[in-house]
Amino acid sequence: MDHSTQRFGTRAVHAGQSPDASTGAIMTPIFQTSTYFQDAIGSPRQGYDYARVKNPTREALQGNLAALENAAHAAAFSSGLAATETLLKTVLSEGDHLICGADVYGGVYRMLAQVWTRFGIQFDFVDTTNLDAVKNAIQENTRLVHLETPSNPLITVTDIAACAKLAHEAGALVSVDNTFATPFLQNPLEMGADVVMHSTTKFLNGHSDMIGGALITNSEKLSEDFAFSQKTSGSVPGPFDCWLVLRGTKTLHVRMPVHCTNAERIAGLLDRNSEVEGVRFPGLPQHPQHELAKKQMRGFGSMVSFDVGSHERANQFVTATQVFQLAESLGGVESLVSVPYTMTHGSVPPDQKAALGITPGLVRLSIGIEDIDDLVEDLEGALETL
Ligand SMILES: Cc1ncc(COP(=O)(O)O)c(C=O)c1O
Repeated sequence: MDHSTQRFGTRAVHAGQSPDASTGAIMTPIFQTSTYFQDAIGSPRQGYDYARVKNPTREALQGNLAALENAAHAAAFSSGLAATETLLKTVLSEGDHLICGADVYGGVYRMLAQVWTRFGIQFDFVDTTNLDAVKNAIQENTRLVHLETPSNPLITVTDIAACAKLAHEAGALVSVDNTFATPFLQNPLEMGADVVMHSTTKFLNGHSDMIGGALITNSEKLSEDFAFSQKTSGSVPGPFDCWLVLRGTKTLHVRMPVHCTNAERIAGLLDRNSEVEGVRFPGLPQHPQHELAKKQMRGFGSMVSFDVGSHERANQFVTATQVFQLAESLGGVESLVSVPYTMTHGSVPPDQKAALGITPGLVRLSIGIEDIDDLVEDLEGALETL
């Protein structure tokens, strides 16, 4: 079936899937097999020979994710970081230069600083909200500009179309980590990006019960390269994890509006509270990229950060909340609270964190879909303990 003319919610439920050919099962089976029968040497019966290369549950997920981003191709990986690493090793060779957003998930920073630095790749962390900084950072050997918008943990918003123009003029590709926005709120390929990356662990799965990633593109060549990497490097997700994401995406369009309205209410209440400072949420009029967010996104997401002044006060706050649970990660139906300084961004050097504004008192909320009144009472109760 051609899903390109269908609306988001219909694509979310159906794209990539059709009744199982052997049984008619409406739900895509979990094809829990590593290998497939061959009628003769080199003649696999249904075109599948080994599950690292191809698996029908994974193919269904890939078809679904591509449709959600209005794209031609998607490749699923065993984690968001595995997807990011696949992107880097597909696009970059020794001597090439990468521009990476300065405010990105700490694991990406760790991968570049502690692994990729050994392989002759040059990279710069750049404030991609500043287009002059992006322009000035582009070198003759720049091959990739990697953006994260909204970013983790400072929730900054980068102009995707403007960065894509700058990068393309210089012959570089642009990738966007769309994990925080999800395809429900933002479609970077339509703004000129070449690749969209997702940690499917987060909103796409939505239930905090697996780890996964994806790369999505309209480029035939990149898609072939990503499939080659699945086969050759093997960082593929298992069929059960694919099935869990596939089940999650069916309700993405139902969950996201609740995430967004809950976050708007909470950002407003934090903004009015004297115990906290510098509330970061693109839906607030004083957010530095509020107008850009309104133009580029169809809603503001459900990630909010704010400062309580010190690590001690942050610890006091996150141990006082009851509904918001202290944990890494985000994007699940349940609300989570974390302190990026020592948690998600623990491996970013202190001077880098200080330069970015990731302070010891910064608290990050992933706002879930619980009853908003319980979430409000929980936060107000914890703020009173400060
Ligand atoms: C924005 C963002 N991108 C990528 C990742 C990495 O994804 P994963 O944990 O699935 O490897 C994370 C993880 O927190 C993230 O927040």
